Amino acid sequence: MKGIFIFFCLSNFLVLFLRETEAAQLQSNGIYIVYMGASVSSKGNPRNDRDQILSSLKRKKNAVIHSYSNGFTGFAAYLSEEEAESIAQRPGVVSVFPDPVLQLHTTHSWDFLKYQTAVEIDSNPSSTSGSFSNGTDTIIGILDTGIWPESQSFSDEDMGPIPSQWKGKCMEGQDFTSSSCNRKLIGARYYDEPGSSNTGASGTPRDKNGHGTHVASTAAGIPVKGASYYGLAEGTAKGGSPGSRIAMYRVCTPVGCRGSAILKAFDDAIADGVDVLSLSLGASAGFEQEFSEDPIAIGAFHAVEKGIIVMCSAGNEGPDSKTVVNIAPWILTVAATTIDRDFESDVVLGGNKVIKGGGINFADIQKSPVYPLIYGSSAKPIHTLDDSQARNCVPGSFQDDQVKGKIILCESKDEEYSAQRKFESLKKQGAIGLIMINDDERAVASTFGSSPVAVVTEEDGARILSYINLTSNPVATILPTVVVTKYKPAPVVAYFSSRGPSFSTKNLLKPDIAAPGVAILAAWPGNDTKAAVSGKGPPLYYVLSGTSMSCPHVSGVAATVRSLHPTWSPSAVKSAIMTSAIQTNNLQAPITTNSGSTATPYDIGAGEVSTSGPLQPGLVYETGIADYLQYLCSTGYNKSKINKIASSLPANFSCSINSNSDSVSNMNYPSIAISNLKENESKKVIRTVTNVDQDESVYTALIDAPSGVDVEVEPNKLQFTKNSKKVAYEVTFRLTSSTEKDIFGSITWTNGNYKVRSPFVVSSIEQMPVK
Ligand SMILES: *[C@@H]1O[C@H](CO)[C@@H](O)[C@H](O)[C@H]1NC(C)=O
Ligand SMILES: *[C@@H]1O[C@H](CO)[C@@H](O)[C@H](O)[C@H]1NC(C)=O
Ligand SMILES: *[C@@H]1O[C@H](CO)[C@@H](O)[C@H](O)[C@H]1NC(C)=O
Ligand SMILES: *[C@@H]1O[C@H](CO)[C@@H](O)[C@H](O)[C@H]1NC(C)=O
Ligand SMILES: *[C@@H]1O[C@H](CO)[C@@H](O)[C@H](O)[C@H]1NC(C)=O
Ligand SMILES: *[C@@H]1O[C@H](CO)[C@@H](O)[C@H](O)[C@H]1NC(C)=O
Repeated sequence: MKGIFIFFCLSNFLVLFLRETEAAQLQSNGIYIVYMGASVSSKGNPRNDRDQILSSLKRKKNAVIHSYSNGFTGFAAYLSEEEAESIAQRPGVVSVFPDPVLQLHTTHSWDFLKYQTAVEIDSNPSSTSGSFSNGTDTIIGILDTGIWPESQSFSDEDMGPIPSQWKGKCMEGQDFTSSSCNRKLIGARYYDEPGSSNTGASGTPRDKNGHGTHVASTAAGIPVKGASYYGLAEGTAKGGSPGSRIAMYRVCTPVGCRGSAILKAFDDAIADGVDVLSLSLGASAGFEQEFSEDPIAIGAFHAVEKGIIVMCSAGNEGPDSKTVVNIAPWILTVAATTIDRDFESDVVLGGNKVIKGGGINFADIQKSPVYPLIYGSSAKPIHTLDDSQARNCVPGSFQDDQVKGKIILCESKDEEYSAQRKFESLKKQGAIGLIMINDDERAVASTFGSSPVAVVTEEDGARILSYINLTSNPVATILPTVVVTKYKPAPVVAYFSSRGPSFSTKNLLKPDIAAPGVAILAAWPGNDTKAAVSGKGPPLYYVLSGTSMSCPHVSGVAATVRSLHPTWSPSAVKSAIMTSAIQTNNLQAPITTNSGSTATPYDIGAGEVSTSGPLQPGLVYETGIADYLQYLCSTGYNKSKINKIASSLPANFSCSINSNSDSVSNMNYPSIAISNLKENESKKVIRTVTNVDQDESVYTALIDAPSGVDVEVEPNKLQFTKNSKKVAYEVTFRLTSSTEKDIFGSITWTNGNYKVRSPFVVSSIEQMPVK
């Protein structure tokens, strides 16, 4: 009986339990990060307070794991709790916190459902391939699982010499020599997992996972003709910025991605001379720490200070709200959408009735429906267990003779077992195939290799059930996957993509942008026999889904913009990407979510990334370092703390007197978020736009506001001249009726040539107090 009880409660408890152990793990290894802010004092002098602390630790052999000195200062070391507390009191120390372990942002977990897909950036409906710069000579740094340098995507044929700004290196390691790097892959570093020198977790920039190789080729792989996943999705695979160079920083090991290593990689990348940093990893939803204890936020802040553009994946914990992570305002946060390609695995029923299923399988069973078809729960369960186990085909639910030679139809409402695991168990019992009912999975093209497995929607599941109910000898078969191109609608927000609003501040709209992240075909380690289908060699290109896959698409776009406009600040590039985003799909209708509702900025931020629009946006919103520091003020930092953090502080800097969460709405950000607005009340925000096109230009405001909120823009015409490149305007929001729901709209400036669009959200809910 106890077993049954656990089963019922598992899905609720599992999440809590995992989070608790995760939290515990974060504390348990004894490593602390000591963050000491900028590497020079705000007066510009080099700092020596770190060395004083380090010398006091000298008697502890091998205590210090990393020290940081280029972009910021600090170190990571094995410390006792008492030492950590005492160091936190030392002058110059901003924070001391346990070294966290962050996760890769592929779909739910690395082992669970390796969702696959194939797409080049060309299939992005907005793409104007070949008509613009390809990112020549910009350098994209990637923090990930390493790289497989032999992949054709990283060939340096026809590439010019390594850009002179490059100061990084190609670290040697296991199966990785200095000749593994070339003019494409110009740098590679790795950070050992402390205390596991010989577990295969360390010692090389080589990718033993696949994630880093996939991400790197999506950002900057060269065009490779005839790439496919065993013939599926065949075409030219290429990255978003094929002319860019790649520097891989291997921060992830099978254990996860350590905060201390991530900070070291940021510190190295800042000195190495990268233009763009791409991170497809992060904390779990609800576990993102505030600035001074969040390695990604800290590293990204100092990178942006030095002019580097930083993008991160939003996370894969959607569609629940408040799941978006990597929300610092200096980061470009990327959500995931589908592309116009479907991997279709059809189910054929008796009478040759075809049901369009999904997923990727290379099954080799009979093409006519000759296999008996049963519904999981109609096979009498083996134990006197609840029927739901059999309905979900949980391993061990059936006796061999119940499933042998048959195709089984199952629900997939349990979260413990992947379809692959269920099929493996059924196959051992002699079953032929598996049909899974799941709307979400239908949309993401999971790979099932040689196994005859297809995923159908709830609606199609009901049709199959009714066929089974009404037929005396129901039969079926499962066909191998075919690729459907020009699939409509696309893009659609992927169900797993993490959603806004941000957990910690409602006054900053996140995510910022959406990009293809479902069923993406990209390079793969050449020796992954586990990913091979039976009888074939390992795949050279592989299909994966996640915001991990969408982030490098945007990194490629950012590198292209940077190559065209080398002097633009990271915030100008970010603004260009956001204000030119697209809100319609390939049916010319608003982009929808996986469940069919119109996507809001909490799903897609400013919209789907355009590959051509950001190259000339017309106007940009510049967000300065001082704006980011004011943001820190509004989250509770005082001037003395900010003084340690910032590399250079305007002499007259002070936190604005009324600094509170409302001030965040006034940051010069390319989107607008207002909270705690009550009926008949109004709030005003200020924005400043900078003209980056011809000197003489007049822009007019177009307002898209739903009923319930009045929006006024003042002035509503902006005049730019040779001497007036920056112009400010005010927006007043007034709620005209009471509502519990957040309200979305947009403000677009246009001069006829360009449309510069900012989404907004107005919420009547009070901002959560900042911890
Ligand atoms: C990038 O563009 C440059 C100049 O247009 C061209 O010479 C180069 O071959 C291109 N590189 C790639 C990888 O497409
Ligand atoms: C088919 O029969 C099962 C039970 O045998 C029942 O749960 C289900 O609702 C029926 N479905 C349809 C579509 O008739
Ligand atoms: C693939 O190569 C890596 C790195 O050389 C190695 O650690 C791994 O064992 C290899 N995998 C297989 C399946 O051969
Ligand atoms: C700033 O805040 C810290 C705590 O974060 C506090 O110890 C310090 O006294 C404050 N400084 C000032 C000038 O208020
Ligand atoms: C600080 O000084 C700069 C120029 O010296 C000025 O533009 C800015 O408004 C001042 N800021 C504050 C908060 O006084
Ligand atoms: C808001 O204004 C309208 C019209 O003047 C009025 O009917 C309504 O009661 C007001 N609501 C509140 C909450 O004051």
